[in-house]
Amino acid sequence: MTKIGEFQTNSIIQGDCVELLKKLPDNSVDLIFADPPYNLQLNGELYRPNQTKVDAVNDEWDKFDSMQVYDEFCKQWLSECHRVLKNTGSIWVIGTYHNIFRVGAIMQDLDFWLLNDIIWVKTNPMPNFKGTRFNNAHETLIWATKSKNANYTFHYHSMKVMNDDLQMRSDWLIPICSGKERIKVNGQKAHSTQKPAELLYRVILSTSNIGDLVLDPFSGSGTTAAIAKRLGRRFIAFEKEPFYIKVANDRLDKITPLETPLLEYKIEKRKPKVSFGNLIEKGYVKIGETLFSKDGKNMATVLADSSLQSEDLVGSIHKVSARLLKKENNNGWSFWYVKRDGVLLSIDELRYHYEKKYHNNRKDGEISFHQNIVPEHEVTFENYEHNEL
Ligand SMILES: C[S@@+](CC[C@H](N)C(=O)[O-])C[C@H]1O[C@@H](n2cnc3c(N)ncnc32)[C@H](O)[C@@H]1O
Repeated sequence: MTKIGEFQTNSIIQGDCVELLKKLPDNSVDLIFADPPYNLQLNGELYRPNQTKVDAVNDEWDKFDSMQVYDEFCKQWLSECHRVLKNTGSIWVIGTYHNIFRVGAIMQDLDFWLLNDIIWVKTNPMPNFKGTRFNNAHETLIWATKSKNANYTFHYHSMKVMNDDLQMRSDWLIPICSGKERIKVNGQKAHSTQKPAELLYRVILSTSNIGDLVLDPFSGSGTTAAIAKRLGRRFIAFEKEPFYIKVANDRLDKITPLETPLLEYKIEKRKPKVSFGNLIEKGYVKIGETLFSKDGKNMATVLADSSLQSEDLVGSIHKVSARLLKKENNNGWSFWYVKRDGVLLSIDELRYHYEKKYHNNRKDGEISFHQNIVPEHEVTFENYEHNEL
C-alpha cells in the first residue's frame, strides 16, 4: 500500500471531509466521485397510502440550517477537491433537484469545466406516494475537469462497445440498488442512499485507468471504494460516521480485484500513424525478406517499393493478404509476420515500436514490446547487410 499525504491508499478514513481533504497534496488524485448530502429538507415522516412508513432520507447528515449554510459547505469541499484533482483527472458529483443546481453553479464559480450532465434514469423508482408531483425518477451526475484545457481520461471506445457499438449517451438507465445488492444490518438498510454498483462501474471504467487513485469524500456504504477495488484502482474514502465505515470495510473484505489483463483497454489502442514503407525505410522490415501468415501457410517477399509478392500476386500488405484469404478486403497489419530469432513477430507490433522510437506523442508504458527482437541500433534500408536477411 502506498501513502498519499498522510493517508494509506485503499482505506476509508473517519472524519469531516473538509478537514481531511486539506491534508491531501495538490494535484494528487486522478478521479473524484462525490455523493454529498442532498439537503432534502424533509419535514416529518412520510407514509404510504396503506399507512406504512416510507424509508426516506431523513438522516442527521442531511440536515443543514439554511441554503446558505449548505452552499458554504459545498464551496469548502469542492474547492479542496479542485486543489487535489490532477489536470489529467476529472470529478463526478451526483445529486437531485434539491442540490444539483446549486452544486453545479458553485463548481463553475470554482473554475471546474463541465463536460456532461448524466441523467441516471431509475428504471424502478420509488413512487410519489402523495400523488402531488411527478414521479421523481432520476438523479443527475455532473462530470467536470479541473480546467477548460485539462487533458482528461475518457475511454470513449470502451463506452461505445458497452453500448452495443453505439455512442454511450448521457441518459443511463440503471435500477436503484435493491435485492441482494442492498446491504442490510439486522434486517434494516445499512445506508439510506447506497448507490447502485453499475453507476460506479460506468463512472470509474470510463474516466480512470488501472492503478489510478480514486477519491470519495462522502463514502457512505463504500460503493465507490468497492468498485474501485474490483476494477484495480487505488482509493481513498472519507466518511463521518463510524457505523458506515464498518459497513464499507466489511463490504471491501469480500471484494477480489479483477486480474489486470481483463481490465486493459485493448479496444482503445490507437493505431500508430506509421506506414509499411516507414518500417522498410528504417530496416524494421527488410527488402527481400519473407513475410509469413501466422500459421506459416502463406508467404510473401518484400519488394523495394513496399509491395509484396506472393507467387503471381503483387500488391500492398492489405491487398495480397485479402487475395490469399479470397476476401475483398483485409487488414494486412494483423496478417503478416516477420521472423526474428526463429520467432514470428507481427508487423503491427513493429509499427508500435517504430512510433515509440520516432514519434514523440506516445506515452511511455502504454504498450509492452517483445524486447530484443526489434532492432535496437539505427538501421535503414541503406546500410543493413544482405546476410542479415
Ligand atoms: C449521500 S451519502 C453517500 C452514499 C454513498 N455514495 C453510497 O453508495 O453508500 C453521503 C454520506 O456522506 C457522509 N457525510 C456527510 N457529511 C460529511 C462530511 N462533512 N464529511 C464526511 N462524510 C460526510 C454521510 O454520513 C453519508 O454517509
